[in-house]
Amino acid sequence: MAAKPRRVTAAIRSQAEDLRARIRHHDHRYHVLNQPEIADAEYDRLFRALVDLEAEFPALVTPDSPTQRVSGEPSEGFESVEHRQPMLSLSNVFDGDELRAWHERISRLIDTTDFALVCEPKIDGLAIALTYEQGRLVRGATRGDGLRGDDITPNLRTVRSIPLRLRLDETGAPAPPLLEVRGEVYLSRVEFDRLNGERAAAGEQLYMNPRNTAAGSLRQLDPSVTASRGLDFFAYQVGWADGSAAPAASQWEALAWVAAAGLPTNSHAERFDSLDEAAGFCASWADRRSELPYEIDGVVVKVDDFSLQRQLGTVGRDPRWATAYKLPSEQAVTRLERIDVSVGRTGVLTPFAVLDPVVIGGVLVGMATLHNEDQVREKDIRKGDDVIVQRAGDVIPQVIGPILSRRTTDLEEFSMPKSCPRCEEPVERDPAEAATRCINPDCPAQLAKLVQHYASRGGMDIEGFGEQLSERLVKEKFIKSLPDLYRLLPRRRKALLALEGIGDLLLDKLEKEINDSKERPLRRLLAALGIRHVGGETAEALATHFGSMKALQEASREELAEIDGIGSVVAESVYGYLHDRRHDRYIKRLAAAGVRMEDERAAIGGPLDGEVVVVTGALTRWSRNEAEALVKQLGGRVGGSVTKNTTYLVAGDGGGQKRDRSEALGTPVLDEEGFAALLEERGWTPPPVR
Ligand code: IVH
Repeated sequence: MAAKPRRVTAAIRSQAEDLRARIRHHDHRYHVLNQPEIADAEYDRLFRALVDLEAEFPALVTPDSPTQRVSGEPSEGFESVEHRQPMLSLSNVFDGDELRAWHERISRLIDTTDFALVCEPKIDGLAIALTYEQGRLVRGATRGDGLRGDDITPNLRTVRSIPLRLRLDETGAPAPPLLEVRGEVYLSRVEFDRLNGERAAAGEQLYMNPRNTAAGSLRQLDPSVTASRGLDFFAYQVGWADGSAAPAASQWEALAWVAAAGLPTNSHAERFDSLDEAAGFCASWADRRSELPYEIDGVVVKVDDFSLQRQLGTVGRDPRWATAYKLPSEQAVTRLERIDVSVGRTGVLTPFAVLDPVVIGGVLVGMATLHNEDQVREKDIRKGDDVIVQRAGDVIPQVIGPILSRRTTDLEEFSMPKSCPRCEEPVERDPAEAATRCINPDCPAQLAKLVQHYASRGGMDIEGFGEQLSERLVKEKFIKSLPDLYRLLPRRRKALLALEGIGDLLLDKLEKEINDSKERPLRRLLAALGIRHVGGETAEALATHFGSMKALQEASREELAEIDGIGSVVAESVYGYLHDRRHDRYIKRLAAAGVRMEDERAAIGGPLDGEVVVVTGALTRWSRNEAEALVKQLGGRVGGSVTKNTTYLVAGDGGGQKRDRSEALGTPVLDEEGFAALLEERGWTPPPVR
């Protein structure tokens, strides 16, 4: 018996409105701000709830409902462009049986089971379409809603693996005057970790996963920001959706053609003559996926022959000739034992989940991040819940959400502690951010994290001074404020030796490391101090511009904000830090301890006055150190990495990354000869070769 249709009541109307408001909110967080607050699965749930509701009450559908938009509304600042052929999506299968069923269905339509399949890893990134005219990249667009996308050509041009010009001579086929290549832009695990490392160093909120980060990077209005993100690309389609206009008769040939034309294709793609082999290949990726340097969420299985593809056609938005074999996500269900709170370097309190340990993707997971208070509430995660935990690549495991159907008793809602779990002083919630902070400047938890940060690789690089030692020395009151680091040795050697597990050997090494750190360049010191929003790049920009702590302290907010790569937010943060009495004392004490506060003074009026030169690779005429000394001697500054402020990269053999970055930023790259020629042009005569 069919259920009686329900009437549209005010309650149902407001339920729909509420869902829409929430979806719009998350759309904005995700698509525009690139700061999602909830996991994709959670969003899907909200979206599906709205779809279902509107299906039951079609009268409720408004033209501005999120369901009427599909996704990817062109953001302000990008022009919307129509795709020559719709960019399709894919049907899904979840195991070998479902793959077999798909194969049977299409076999019936084309009256044969004898056809080859091409299997390609399904990269978890973003689909884009590249247009080449006479072999030149003229346009790059996002998928958008499948019919229209955003023109993001300037951003895609910065992706190094996307050729600006095809190698059509290499293909052995006549060059098509107009060609569209489709593929996936993605962020590798390494790049993702690098970006998050930088953000952590700058005290900024971490990105959630590579896919969202890639999406945000493509949406930058400033292409140089996109360039700095290290995006990558794989091409998987040429011509139109069904292969027409492709210089090939099959997917396999098309991939070979694309590769010959100089586009990156995935090396793990394979062609199979039988379904069994293809199914075996698909299943094999469940265990192998973690070996890849990027994330995949399945395998795309395509009918190889383009004429068969055309016969099969599409249903709705999905081609019949392809399907996505989805891999089981790296998730597990386990009990949330309790929610603990940690205190970061800037005092931010972060809740994290202590779990009944569970193996996910071959790794034992006992803790997972909960990001912030709002997320815990939004997802309604409570102590004692059974929760879904996800591990994606090398990313910190995260709690996706509770399984509400398993919550049988009343569980206590989570609330942030009113006082710091470490120093017990009252905490404050900043209404502008989703952050609660311990504002006690003497909080030992913050101090320990600051000391660890100061000594870290990205900071003063004091080897052997990691998390544990920092924690311990703060706890045992050897370090009561940052500069105490320089009073440990030799002064407190005896007392330190009394600590368990600390011997002469370790202390000798530490003493040397700590002393060496006093000589680090200014940019390292600035990055080490833990000024909010100041990571390695900003520190470098400040150091190269000012050259000394004194000059930096004397700079006005306006002067700071004018420096390339430093906006008003960073300027305010730097200014605020330097004009805080406490920090001023820190800096005085560090200086008194012998920490260098300025970079070597460069010769004013020298041939390299005002230039910022980065040296990389193996040189023959000079050693790297000699070349750097020469730059300084001639009035230039030496940079550690290529930034917007770099004026020249001097590159010997190798030095690939810095070279790539220079090219992305448009920084001139000189070889040794070019560098010598530049100097000579500016009136410097090289000394006779020894
Ligand atoms: S083929 C009609 N091949 O998966 C053909 N897609 O749900 C559709 N994807 O939007 C695309 N790797 O973003 C294809 N080797 C691959 C792919 C791939 C990743 C993504 C792509 C597409 C989505 C389909």
